[in-house]
Order: sequence, then structure tokens, then C-alpha cells
Amino acid sequence: MSVVALAGSPSAFSRSTALLRHVLARLDDGVVRSEIAVRDLPPAALVRADFDDPAIRHACDQVAAARVVVIATPIYKASFSGLLKSFLDLLPQDALRGKTVLPLATGGSIAHLLAVDYALKPVLHALGARHITDAVFAVDAQLPRAADGDGYTPEPAVIERLDRALAGLLATPRSQAFIASLMRA
Ligand SMILES: Cc1cc2nc3c(=O)[nH]c(=O)nc-3n(C[C@H](O)[C@H](O)[C@H](O)COP(=O)(O)O)c2cc1C
Repeated sequence: MSVVALAGSPSAFSRSTALLRHVLARLDDGVVRSEIAVRDLPPAALVRADFDDPAIRHACDQVAAARVVVIATPIYKASFSGLLKSFLDLLPQDALRGKTVLPLATGGSIAHLLAVDYALKPVLHALGARHITDAVFAVDAQLPRAADGDGYTPEPAVIERLDRALAGLLATPRSQAFIASLMRA
């Protein structure tokens, strides 16, 4: 089992990335995982669609190597972030075929709750994804600052939805026992 986590927020201090980190933390140690923070990729390569940039190629290889792709984005102007799109545009055609994808999103209000469905999912589909699990969307108020001031802690209701999504994500053709072995107790 291999999972790649794709963080699509331009912010260093990011609520959507906090959702992503929660999912990663729930995976068993035996799960091979890697993380791509799009904000850390070379800006010029993203803006100029430089497919040959070594960091871009490495990130594309990370996606190619994973069976499961978890994608986190803030909602910007009723859609997913432009930063995330700049990276998705550099993935090869069919980059997500045969993979399971879990979308995660955070927004200032529930007004754009469906942005993942009407904006992100068609792009994932265009990249070949045919197994996209139920997205988890949380509003900022559900991700208060952590008590130690370091990052954000999802409310229990959000954690419950993340765990449910994760179980569904790992469920695909596997047995319940196998799924249980992939999650921390
Ligand atoms: C430029 C910009 C545009 C935004 N547009 C929306 C929007 O259209 N709908 C919404 O619900 N929230 C919007 N927000 C709020 C963010 O989606 C929200 O704060 C989100 O949790 C930020 O995630 P991040 O911390 O991972 O970057 C916007 C924020 C910014 C900075």
C-alpha cells in the first residue's frame, strides 16, 4: 500500500493541510507514504508549465508510484486553489487511472461545500480517476487552532468524517481485516 498526500494550499499555516496530516497520521507505519506540498515546488516551473523541471518530475513520479492519492485544497473563489491546478496541469494524461483518490477541502463557509464536486472532481476524472471517495469538507470554524498553538486541530465531528473516509478509501477490494491492519488502533 502506498499513499501520496498532495497539499494544495499556498499557506504555510494551512487548515486543509491539517486535514491531510490527520489522514497521514491515521495510517499504519507499514503504509508507504510521501507528501507533496505544491507551494514548495519551483514557482517558475509551475507558472511556465515546465514539465522537465527535476522537482516537478519527482513530484509526478511520487504520484505515479502511489495507489492512493489524498488531495487537500482550500476553497478559493468558489473552486479549488489555482496552485493545486498548476500542479495537476503538469501531471501526465491518465496520471490517476487505477488509483483511489480522497479529496479534502476547507472553506470559510459552507457556501461552497459543493466546489469539490463541481470543480475538482471533473479534473480528477479527466486525469483518469474512476474511484473518487466521498470528499471531506470542513469550514474554518471546525478547525480551531491547536492548544499548543502549532497548527489546527479538527473538531471531533470532522475527525469522525475523516476516519470514515479513510476506511472507505482503504476498503476498495480488500478485506476488513486488511483495512484494520492499515489503521492505528
Ligand atoms: C483568496 C481567497 C479566496 C477564498 N475564497 C473562498 C471561497 O470562495 N469560499 C470559501 O468558502 N472560502 C474561501 N476562502 C477561505 C478559505 O477557503 C479558508 O480559509 C480555507 O480554510 C483556507 O485553507 P488553507 O488554510 O489550507 O489555505 C478564501 C480564502 C482566500 C485567501
